[in-house]
Amino acid sequence: MTPPAIPLSAKARRTGDQPISYFMQQAIENPDLISLAAGLVDEESLPAAAVREALDGLLADPADARAALQYGTTPGLASLRRQVLDRYLAAEGVAAGEVNLSADDVVITTGSQQLLYLVGELLLDPGDVVLTEAPSYFVHHGLLTSHGARIVPVAMDDDGLDVDALEGRLQALERQGELGRVKLIYVCDYYQNPSGRTLGLERRRRLVEVTRRYGRQHRILVLEDAAYRELRFEGDDLPGVKRFDPTNDLVIYTSTFSKPCAPGLKTGFGILPRGLTAPLLRLKGNHDFGSNNLTQHVIDRLLASGAYDRHLTDLRAAYLRKRDAMLRALEREFGDVPGATWTRPTGGLYVWLSLPRHLDTGPNGRLLEEALREGVLYVPGEFCHAEGEGAPLPTWEARLCYGVATAEEIDEAIRRLRRAAGRVMVSRDAQRSAHAKPQAAAANR
Ligand SMILES: Cc1ncc(COP(=O)(O)O)c(C=O)c1O
Repeated sequence: MTPPAIPLSAKARRTGDQPISYFMQQAIENPDLISLAAGLVDEESLPAAAVREALDGLLADPADARAALQYGTTPGLASLRRQVLDRYLAAEGVAAGEVNLSADDVVITTGSQQLLYLVGELLLDPGDVVLTEAPSYFVHHGLLTSHGARIVPVAMDDDGLDVDALEGRLQALERQGELGRVKLIYVCDYYQNPSGRTLGLERRRRLVEVTRRYGRQHRILVLEDAAYRELRFEGDDLPGVKRFDPTNDLVIYTSTFSKPCAPGLKTGFGILPRGLTAPLLRLKGNHDFGSNNLTQHVIDRLLASGAYDRHLTDLRAAYLRKRDAMLRALEREFGDVPGATWTRPTGGLYVWLSLPRHLDTGPNGRLLEEALREGVLYVPGEFCHAEGEGAPLPTWEARLCYGVATAEEIDEAIRRLRRAAGRVMVSRDAQRSAHAKPQAAAANR
């Protein structure tokens, strides 16, 4: 007799597979495939020597070794939290007192992903509203769905989130009597995953102003995901959105050591508004009562010795070369395709490609089938859009990651993608002229 179904919780039932897993599998199973899909980092430059040196130093000192091999604390290693805060303040060019911050507002997490999850768990009941950029980081969509949140997408352009559109959404929610359900506005404001776009300076200021205004009755928080901030290879660093919240009550700032250092260390952090840290730590206590302590000690040493910053300099140069390789190849291969456009990121790992609307980039579309045949993989843009507010999802976009592939592979991958697109366009043209002929013949009669 088969036993009854496993009684999964409502949350487990709301949690689907990440659509990307199928694509990751394809890349692993097919070694000739060039994947521009996975958001992994450059392999060659992973800092093995620097990490070995840090570990050697740590384990050679008996007292440090014992401290690192023991459990740590739930908020994380005190010296690392101090360094995180100091680096943040230096990047913003402010003193701690000017922005109402201390190291007690910093929490070290198991990747910034854990911080994103904990913030959801902390704030969201099923039916609560989270406003996100459209497109947005699809793994975050997944966790919002797990928490039962209603995702309301807000348009963006080359300057990032459209704050007028955000205000329009908030106004509409207010009219519907739903403003009290709005808990969070999520922005990935530096070299966004997936589009590579950065939120403009003036919009940063306005985002905080609008959030404060609409959150007068029920506080609305901004979740600023700065995962790619340190991967800037062109232009100036912009102040964080959090910089415009000097009283430290609206903006949760999160970033990570995964992208600028090594994802295998899986360590990130949050810098939290006053009042949020204690309840978040209680939840984190349920998860793990502290992230991997050994790893925190390693990162602490990498930061203190300057090895981290030396690594960043090399990494930025490597990504600039790869970004250039991708932009050059796109210009060469797609420059003549009417309606094809792409972003020009000044940091991070992603280019967002927009194709003519008839080229369906989706998982069941012809382009992906042809791309796989050619041996190239991208993330279908529709994965990065939340089913929101009734509008059909755009089906002509793709996320291209230049993180993992070499410059030569990137060049070849874009050539393959163009061949795939070319075949879909040719067969569409053939179909159109086959349809057009009988009509033309009828017109001649
Ligand atoms: C925008 C963004 N936020 C957060 C994360 C989570 O990264 P981690 O948990 O490794 O810090 C990622 C990873 O790809 C990301 O792209």
